[in-house]
Amino acid sequence: MRRQRPIIATLAILAAGAGIAAIAAAAVKPETAIAYRQAGYTMLGWNFGPMAQMVRGKAPWDATEFALRAERVAQIAPQLLEGFPPGSDTGATTDAKPEIWKNMDDFKAKMNDLVEQSKRLAEVAKSGDEAKMKEQFKQTAAACKACHDKYRSEE
Ligand code: HEC
Repeated sequence: MRRQRPIIATLAILAAGAGIAAIAAAAVKPETAIAYRQAGYTMLGWNFGPMAQMVRGKAPWDATEFALRAERVAQIAPQLLEGFPPGSDTGATTDAKPEIWKNMDDFKAKMNDLVEQSKRLAEVAKSGDEAKMKEQFKQTAAACKACHDKYRSEE
């Protein structure tokens, strides 16, 4: 009996943790979700900008920096969808169009495309092959644009 206790205790902790996560997700305020996703996109842009500069030849090519930034983008991308819970179309200043919540499957598909392309970009960047990195950067940028064109209002 004694030897089972730690397992039971662990399960109890896991169950409690899962419960807290579910409650937190249900209770998240729209303004908190909006702030979260804008912060995530700001970090994406922070890393994507210098990569774009390199790809366009406006900054010196630096494969090491490019790979580091590609890795960051690939880490951030899968965290963004959480920032669009139901009801967060309003609640704070946001450029997210209400169409997102009416076409959530399509929005998710576009988000997934970014996740896939940025994962590929981080992989390709490990090779240090400049031409391939530039090509995959364009694919990734196209995933940003495809979503912005449809779901982000321009200002
Ligand atoms: C699946 C949809 C989607 C994809 C893919 C996407 N974005 Fe966005 N992006 C949005 C939406 C929606 C907003 C507006 C968020 C808001 O204001 O609530 C936004 C906002 C932003 C912002 C402004 C953040 C702020 O402070 O308000 C930046 C910068 C940005 N995106 C960069 C990028 C980059 C770079 C990529 C690709 C690497 C990308 N996005 C891919 C949907 C997307």
